[in-house]
Amino acid sequence: MGWVEELSEIVEVFSPSDAYAYDETPPLIAPKPVQNFVVVKPENANEVSAVLKFANRRKISVFTRGGGTGLSGGAVPTEEGIVLSTERMTGLEVDRENRVAECGAGVTLKQLDDAAFKNDLSFPLHPGAETATVGGMIATNAGGVRALKYGTMRNYVLGLEVVLADGRILELGGKTIKNSSGYSILHLLVGSEGTLGIITRAKIRLFPQLRDMTVLAVPFPTMDNAMDCVVEISARMLPLALEFMEKRAVEIGERVSGEKWVSRDGEAHLLMVFESFDEADEAAKIAQNFGAIDVYAATTKKDRDRLLRVRGLIYEGLRKDIIEILDACLPPAKIAEYWRRSNELAEKYGVDIITYGHAGDGNIHQHPLIYDGWEKSYFEFRKELLKLAVSFGGVISGEHGIGAVKTSELREFFPEQFDLMRRIKLLFDPNNILNPGKVVGKI
Ligand code: LAC
Ligand code: ZN
Repeated sequence: MGWVEELSEIVEVFSPSDAYAYDETPPLIAPKPVQNFVVVKPENANEVSAVLKFANRRKISVFTRGGGTGLSGGAVPTEEGIVLSTERMTGLEVDRENRVAECGAGVTLKQLDDAAFKNDLSFPLHPGAETATVGGMIATNAGGVRALKYGTMRNYVLGLEVVLADGRILELGGKTIKNSSGYSILHLLVGSEGTLGIITRAKIRLFPQLRDMTVLAVPFPTMDNAMDCVVEISARMLPLALEFMEKRAVEIGERVSGEKWVSRDGEAHLLMVFESFDEADEAAKIAQNFGAIDVYAATTKKDRDRLLRVRGLIYEGLRKDIIEILDACLPPAKIAEYWRRSNELAEKYGVDIITYGHAGDGNIHQHPLIYDGWEKSYFEFRKELLKLAVSFGGVISGEHGIGAVKTSELREFFPEQFDLMRRIKLLFDPNNILNPGKVVGKI
């Protein structure tokens, strides 16, 4: 790495460490990080620009890293190069009149939430880890439990400051809610996973504070009952969250959280969050009509948190036992059928999958459990499973991104788009220095 000395004349350079080599992708599927990388922590777009000018000239790979909470290996350095951490870009101001937060890419979800709250506003999205950063959430178009009502990260991004591979700094969008000014380069950057440019600042749309919430927990005898109920509720109202869990997922959530769920009976369970008591009331009636075993309403914060913790901690409880977490997204009304067909396919391959997810938006999390000899048959199964999701009109990732783990399926199932994506990538980054190998694979 003869280039490190020259880089250290431009920016402070740190030695590699595991803290910058991994993200939260389950280890069996995660890409292997290289050892030969260095870390830089620029403070603003000008410093990022200086690093990129150097890297582009010397053709050195640059891996941008936010909170490291990704689940697709997107931030893992997989070639000799530079890990560019956004952790020092933490400026944060709220423009209350225009309901916009102006954030550095390294601002965390928790910091953004707190700042919005202090200004009597809110950032409704909650993609999970509170240490996730604004830059990372934009780069993956993060979603999570609360994307149903207010949309995924894309719907919040009004403006971006981006540094291109050659060091040019672009200002995209602004504080306007509408923008019909030609191709949206801004939206091309959302979900680009560090391959098209480096996001250094963002203007994030804020909303009025959420109203008092009511949570319903509803066990159903069958997945079909639960999903028919979801379809009907969704036609009548838009809950903040509408989640489902199969029975085993509930049991894991209970174990990890130490909390008790409302019932262990039933094949499928719904967890719904409403901003209005009237809506919760109407949804409870619909649930009863669709065969709910019981309808439990939580109105106190303590009670709500207890139920949300059961759902929120399932992944934590599964982490050690799974090959990976999948996040196909389907037309929402197809979940029950897809779930059933998936389980049939899994049985054929001798795979056991535990499933829960975001029922309202069709984003389903399937967790294949580790089994003896999985290396031999798993990848064929996985391809068949994702193919099934696509055959239902779905996509292969609803929120976790392509990263390093789904490039071949993206290429195989969406060849025309993949080809266009590659051409766009090379237009933005002709030397292929930005997160090479991710999203559009090796070029
Ligand atoms: C969830 C994360 C894993 O929905 O996406 O829990
Ligand atoms: Zn999710």
